[in-house]
Amino acid sequence: MLRRLHPDQPDSFAFTPANQAWAEAQIAKYPAGRQASAIIPLLWRAQEQHGWLTRAAIEHVAAMLDMAYIRALEVATFYFMFQLQPVGAVAHFQICGTTPCMLCGSEELVKVCREKIAKQPHKLSADGKFSWEEVECLGACSNAPMAQIGKDYYEDLDAESFAKLIDEMAKGKVPTPGSQKGRFASEPLGGATTLKDYTGQAENGSVALATGLGDTLKRIDGSEVPLVAPWCDHPRADGMPMGGNVAELVKPADPDEAPKAKGDSETLRRKEQVAVPKATPKAAPDVVEPTVMETKPEMLTEARGTPDDLKKIKGVGPKLEGVLNELGVWHFWQIASWTATEVAWVDTRLKFKGRIERDGWIEQAKTLAEGGETEFSSRS
Ligand code: FES
Repeated sequence: MLRRLHPDQPDSFAFTPANQAWAEAQIAKYPAGRQASAIIPLLWRAQEQHGWLTRAAIEHVAAMLDMAYIRALEVATFYFMFQLQPVGAVAHFQICGTTPCMLCGSEELVKVCREKIAKQPHKLSADGKFSWEEVECLGACSNAPMAQIGKDYYEDLDAESFAKLIDEMAKGKVPTPGSQKGRFASEPLGGATTLKDYTGQAENGSVALATGLGDTLKRIDGSEVPLVAPWCDHPRADGMPMGGNVAELVKPADPDEAPKAKGDSETLRRKEQVAVPKATPKAAPDVVEPTVMETKPEMLTEARGTPDDLKKIKGVGPKLEGVLNELGVWHFWQIASWTATEVAWVDTRLKFKGRIERDGWIEQAKTLAEGGETEFSSRS
């Protein structure tokens, strides 16, 4: 497949102040003279900021790393994780079409793309929200067929679940990545036969971390994951400067430094969508500061009779169930009755901002409290 730069290019590229500081902190990881090692994360960040990788962005990154432009271009055109043309504002689907995924139905996923997005790969949907392409093996063959969107893998797909994913994303929702058939990892579809300790946990570590941080399809709501560079707090063994505290590197936006492509509405739209976070040199905070009004829901000192199995709610694993019990939540009916401000209160304590709403706990809990089963609970 030919991978060439798109014919229509914006005039310039500049990282946002926060991204610039983050990029400089990445460079600080490497010994003097080896800063080119930071090319992949910097190109990726440029792509996340703009949506796709422009010539100006590649030049900008090459200049930052003191590399010849052709070297940076070689990297950008070699890896198909880098998009060299405009992509959907919400999601660009990379459908794996290699043999295991093909045998498990990836051609059906491509059909869905052709019907719901665009007949041809690399073309935008009519509303500009989506685009797609077929790619080679993405290394998740045991959970085939699968699709990658940005950093996320959606696995164990079929035409129906994939079409539903697209519809949900079109409505601004962020479906939970990972297996769409309830697998924790790559255990047999019928359930684990060994290492059963994790059975019943809704998400594996990587999905839990991504959803916990909110680092998934973030462009849907324009929110951004805090940029951290904890290594900058430690002296380097070779005595070289570490690039400093990221927060110090973040300067207020200087209008003179803004990209010159004022007429490039795509560039401007993307830049508006990417919120500039307040960078911090520390790891993600332990407690997420509340941004909405919170009300403490009714809590119990102990279960009323037999506690409900809260793990029947998609998104609640054994650990989270323990935390809920400690807070005083033992029953489905408690969760089913939470108001929006009560959800906000619990959300803050769980340190998984947005999970309750994202996974639809209230609706699930209502069904379970009435003695019904949800799609997720019926699998366990
Ligand atoms: S064949 Fe699809 S992920 Fe490997």
